[in-house]
Amino acid sequence: MKLSRRTLLAATGAAVTLTSCGLDPSPAQSGELLRSKAKLPEPFTVPLPIPPVKKPTAPDRYRVVQRKASLEILPGLKTEVLGYDGLFPGPTFDVRSGRTTVVEQVNELDVPTVLHLHGGHTPAASDGWPLDLLMPAGGHHDHSGHHTMQGGDVKTGSRIYTFPNTQRAATLWYHDHRMDYTAPQVYRGLFGLHLIRDEEEDRLPLPHGDREIPLVIADRAFAEDGSFIYPAAKGRPGVESAYMEGVVADVTLVNGAPWPVHEVDAVRYRLRILNAANARRYELGFDRGPAKFVQIGSDGGLLGAPVEHETLVIAPAERFDVIVDFSAYKPGDEVTVVNRLDENAPVLRFKVTRRASDDSSIPAKLSTYSAIEAPKGIVKRQWRFRRGNAGGHHGWTINGKAFDPVNMQAQVKLDQYEIWSFVTDVHHPVHVHLAPFQVLSRRGHGPGPYDAGWKDTVDVRPAEVVEVLVKFTAHKGKYLIHCHNLEHEDMAMMAAFETI
Ligand code: C2O
Ligand code: CU
Ligand code: CU
Repeated sequence: MKLSRRTLLAATGAAVTLTSCGLDPSPAQSGELLRSKAKLPEPFTVPLPIPPVKKPTAPDRYRVVQRKASLEILPGLKTEVLGYDGLFPGPTFDVRSGRTTVVEQVNELDVPTVLHLHGGHTPAASDGWPLDLLMPAGGHHDHSGHHTMQGGDVKTGSRIYTFPNTQRAATLWYHDHRMDYTAPQVYRGLFGLHLIRDEEEDRLPLPHGDREIPLVIADRAFAEDGSFIYPAAKGRPGVESAYMEGVVADVTLVNGAPWPVHEVDAVRYRLRILNAANARRYELGFDRGPAKFVQIGSDGGLLGAPVEHETLVIAPAERFDVIVDFSAYKPGDEVTVVNRLDENAPVLRFKVTRRASDDSSIPAKLSTYSAIEAPKGIVKRQWRFRRGNAGGHHGWTINGKAFDPVNMQAQVKLDQYEIWSFVTDVHHPVHVHLAPFQVLSRRGHGPGPYDAGWKDTVDVRPAEVVEVLVKFTAHKGKYLIHCHNLEHEDMAMMAAFETI
């Protein structure tokens, strides 16, 4: 593996604070690098796994057991994960728009959990309010989270989550959302994909079957024995102070495998890319032309028309649905996806094995998506994301406040558009529950190249203002807006609002 400058620095034992280098006013990454001690494989030696599709127990009904499992993520070593069904990532839900999915979650772990469907148009009772804990079945659990229990709907052993899926086809994901402990619990494995399909999408001649591939990207660090390294703070939630900018790690996992390799035919593929990292941003690019990314969808489903990108900047929790055409390559060619924000560090490799026929195409019109015009006299709200005092220690705040599950920061009327503006100090990937939004402007100009379509998470860069148009419908209750850098989220960068 080629050593990047950062890896080299880390290898010499120097601490590297990616955000505090002083010279660069707008670094590409907020976070602190964690370095593995385990023996790591050569990149592109482990095959790309595809998470299994979850099977229902009866039509539209599912049962998931959250349990520990010991998995071979690095060849020759075992890593203990907290997994949905013991998997890393969890199984993929593949469901139809408009059909309610009922999921029984069973907690056989030793920590409380909370399930959230990210991107879901979900009633509040199933949205994963951070205090609606599911306590472990066995009754034995750590006591670190006890102070967080007031005010939540706490269940023990198992809990039913209901997802109406009343929304367009899109790439959603589910993950843990326990107050103060989301970052370590997602890091250890509590995340997976939830795909919604509909007729509008079915009609398109897109690559499908084994030419439709999910790519769930996340970075992790491993101790010598193969266990995950995570710098949890002692005696309080969140991370050690040195990591409050976010935990970034030196091993890139795709679908749970380190720098994997995947064989492809010389045809078009549909890649559903999710950045499931706690804090790392990626700028994905190819090491050799002419491959590029033709974006067909974003967080909230299909775009109106395809958008071409040489590289893809993807912040934590964002999804990009893209088509990549390998037909210009010859059998035997290798095409590597690299991260341009980390000196072209490897991500995964495609090996073109053979020519094959291809009946797919990318229509110029993908969907009925259209940009919505903001009505006159619209309500505007500002959400300021800044470093600050969170519960007596250094942390992160929204509008000057640490997360408070009791006091709502806003009451928002259903069925009317509002313009929300997100204002930052450093990088903050901002996520809103319940409804998708359209990006109206960035730094006073039009939306950026990665802002197309319906989104639920937007990459807000340092000292930036991003305005979005949002409208909540159908469900009254308590919902969240937060930073999806999970270390920031756990260190209080979250706010509650109520839809009325
Ligand atoms: Cu993906 Cu509130 O989270
Ligand atoms: Cu969410
Ligand atoms: Cu943040």
